[in-house]
Amino acid sequence: MSTIIYAHRGASKHAPENTMPAFELAYKHGADGIETDVQLTKDNIPVLIHDEQLNRTTNGTGFVKDFTYNELNQLDAGSWKSPHYIDTKIPTLDDLLAWNQEKQLKLNVELKNNIISYQGLEDIVCQKLVEYNMADKTVISSFNHKSITRINENKTNIDYALLTGKRNKALIPYSKKIKAKGIHIRYRLLSNRLVMLANENNLYVAVYTVNSPITISKAIRLGCHALFTDVPKLAIDVKKRRFAERI
Ligand code: G3P
Ligand code: MG
Repeated sequence: MSTIIYAHRGASKHAPENTMPAFELAYKHGADGIETDVQLTKDNIPVLIHDEQLNRTTNGTGFVKDFTYNELNQLDAGSWKSPHYIDTKIPTLDDLLAWNQEKQLKLNVELKNNIISYQGLEDIVCQKLVEYNMADKTVISSFNHKSITRINENKTNIDYALLTGKRNKALIPYSKKIKAKGIHIRYRLLSNRLVMLANENNLYVAVYTVNSPITISKAIRLGCHALFTDVPKLAIDVKKRRFAERI
């Protein structure tokens, strides 16, 4: 089994997170997949932005939910990273899915509904994935564990994973109970024991966010199904080097 390398918010160390240039760079660097965060606009358009508020990664202020897509489309989501990215837009989920039609990268769509419980977000995202024929190449995750159980009810057969940064003894039984495919955990929760226990229970383990050769290497060595990294090029190099050393 080979660890899947997801570019976390795209190749977000070198390009503005969750934007088309970051996804493009991840593709260019050879990532297997893209992890991205989804919030909903006032007019129910799924847009790719990590924070509930616009302040950190755009030249706007306030909550994503209070603006229509057309209003958000006026904003610059690139300059905060570098002047090179001036006028980069906040992408919609449609933008990513349309761009990915030819490339067919794997996707991890993270529903950012743990702070604001966007009504209907699960259905909106699932419908888009079906529409673009990406249902079988995508895993949905969320820190909002109630939300991912709604994906099960949704009957689109899209895989979903439980996302957590907290240690919890019930993690594996709970993930099984809600029929998650895997658990996406913060790196500091990673251990050999957890991976073994998860695998025994038919759950995969993926780990975020690993950006150094040591952490990337450990994730691969312990048999993580996937890892999330801001530097996909580095992760691919580490993976290749490990493979070369074994033969
Ligand atoms: O999905 C993995 C990771 O992205 C979760 O944390 O805050 O980077 O979205 P965050
Ligand atoms: Mg995320």
